[in-house]
Amino acid sequence: MSTIRLLPSLLSADFAHLADEIARCEAAGASILHVDVMDGHFVPNLSMGPFIVEAMRRSTRLPLDVHLMMTDPLRYVGEFRAAGADAITIHVEALGQRALPAAIEAVRATGAEVGLALNPDTDPELWFPHFAHVDLVMFMTVYPGFGGQAFIPQVRPRIRATRAAFPKLPIQVDGGIARDTIPQVVADGATRLVCGSAFFKDKDPAAFLRWAESQA
Ligand code: DX5
Ligand code: ZN
Repeated sequence: MSTIRLLPSLLSADFAHLADEIARCEAAGASILHVDVMDGHFVPNLSMGPFIVEAMRRSTRLPLDVHLMMTDPLRYVGEFRAAGADAITIHVEALGQRALPAAIEAVRATGAEVGLALNPDTDPELWFPHFAHVDLVMFMTVYPGFGGQAFIPQVRPRIRATRAAFPKLPIQVDGGIARDTIPQVVADGATRLVCGSAFFKDKDPAAFLRWAESQA
């Protein structure tokens, strides 16, 4: 049995009350927080930069799992690490096969844990050779860029194939993760569940988180 973790995605928080929202995640029992960085180029939306991550860092001691939806993530990894990122996830599509090994090393050199994110249409098997060199792999179960979208079920066999090939790899899922989809992705082999709108809208986020983390 593996440990399941639910990571609240702060993109769904009320940014006028960020410290209170982070306290709400802590009170609900969250052990890691997910932070979405969008550059308006890799995805058609803008979110936050190192300045906000640094403000989050001052509001909590929980690990910050920073998801860089950026065309040129390496330009900023040092700044995000200095701002307080504990793990930094970059998109394989942004780097490409040839640049990826050096990119993984560049993120690792900052001292952060390293994650690789894959868009819903990306075939994970093409990227398997890199998975042994990172701390987590994250499947986008929506097209990245916005919270509150519907889960894309076609990603499920990709999660299963990755789990079969990598029995111990932390597999994270991001997008449309909620009460209906959590049992499915956990059955497929996901161990880390990023959850934005479903967590923040829940009337009892503590009970929701407890339920999610008991799905193993
Ligand atoms: C989407 C982001 C997600 C987003 C998930 O591009 O990467 O982390 O916050 O939101 P929900 O859980 O509402 O789909
Ligand atoms: Zn994300």
